[in-house]
Amino acid sequence: MSGADPRVPESTDATAQLASEGGYVALSTSVNGGEWRGMVPTTQSLLDFIRDTLGLTGTKRGCEWMVCGACTVLVDGEPTYSCNMLAADADARELLTIEGVSQDGNASALQAALVRNVGIQCGYCTPGQVMSAQAFLTSHEEWDERAARTWMRGNICRCGSYAGILAAMREVFECPSRRSTTAVDT
Ligand code: FES
Ligand code: FES
Repeated sequence: MSGADPRVPESTDATAQLASEGGYVALSTSVNGGEWRGMVPTTQSLLDFIRDTLGLTGTKRGCEWMVCGACTVLVDGEPTYSCNMLAADADARELLTIEGVSQDGNASALQAALVRNVGIQCGYCTPGQVMSAQAFLTSHEEWDERAARTWMRGNICRCGSYAGILAAMREVFECPSRRSTTAVDT
């Protein structure tokens, strides 16, 4: 494995300073295509904002230390560990959580492929896997098994569903029209 993990968020000096002072800060952000504006604690993590403030509990809490990937969401299209990013740093950014991947209750192409390829067992890691895998599918032009494995290294599956996850990614990759976050008929 080489290269920095793209999921590790970068905190700005400004928000780090605010967090050290405590209190609340204004936040204006896009969540799954809708606008959200309000005040958030300066110390609140993006994970807590998503789960506790927004009630979007599809994003999972695991290690809370940038190891397991269960908390992965997309921030401006980039897979990001929400456990280690301040909510305040999401200001003026676009967030996509697992709830924004499916539409009207229909599974996305990737979600359906995960089911077909047994890339899901207990399902706890699955939301994070989907967000990271979707980002890979939309940011790569050619299938590269090694690159896919390296990309997904930050998402741990305790059930060991890795072969099924990679098979699902490849299946979707080979159908370019399906390489989007939009839901499709399965
Ligand atoms: S909960 Fe964020 S990486 Fe594990
Ligand atoms: S399916 Fe159980 S942890 Fe991944």
